[in-house]
Amino acid sequence: MSLLFVTTNAGKVREARDYLDAAVEQFDYDYAEIQSDDLAAIAARGAHEAHEAAGGGDPVIVDDSGLFVGGLGGFPGPYSSYVEDTLGIERVWELVRSLDDRAAAFRSVVAYADGETVETFTGEVSGRIVAPRGAGGFGFDPIFEHEGETFAEMGTEAKNAVSHRGRALASLAEWLAERE
Ligand code: IMP
Repeated sequence: MSLLFVTTNAGKVREARDYLDAAVEQFDYDYAEIQSDDLAAIAARGAHEAHEAAGGGDPVIVDDSGLFVGGLGGFPGPYSSYVEDTLGIERVWELVRSLDDRAAAFRSVVAYADGETVETFTGEVSGRIVAPRGAGGFGFDPIFEHEGETFAEMGTEAKNAVSHRGRALASLAEWLAERE
């Protein structure tokens, strides 16, 4: 059995291979994201749709992530990708810098679908929003500081060890192992 990771991002597939014993293949398919405040609902619906689009064979996983800023009521959350494209991370920092509370979290939901079951696994990492630092990573990494370093200052391995996506994949791996 292999797992099809539904994503247009090959980097996510490499990351998943580090966590999962099963063979992980990329299924380059852009599922329709439903509009919801709930990452789990978005990921579960996407996994169900993608499993059908893949022909209903091997199980699929999808991942949906977002940055949740406490002092902004959780914004941008499920709209993170849109906000990154429209405002950009510098302007997110400008919005947050005037707040007393700059605490934030990255959250990721990995949804698994095999035609019978849809299961979701959540991972979270907390930190705070800071002025951009660091050249690595992607997305909001330069403005997200965790234990003194921004994600863009950490190496990929150090980031993966604590990241929201890593934690969600680790609980999927545990669940898959229990089912065997
Ligand atoms: P997606 O659901 O993984 O496509 O991510 C949604 C948004 O969150 C995009 O704007 C990503 O750039 C951002 N994002 C997701 N994971 C990370 C991360 O690990 N670091 C920085 N930004 C991230």
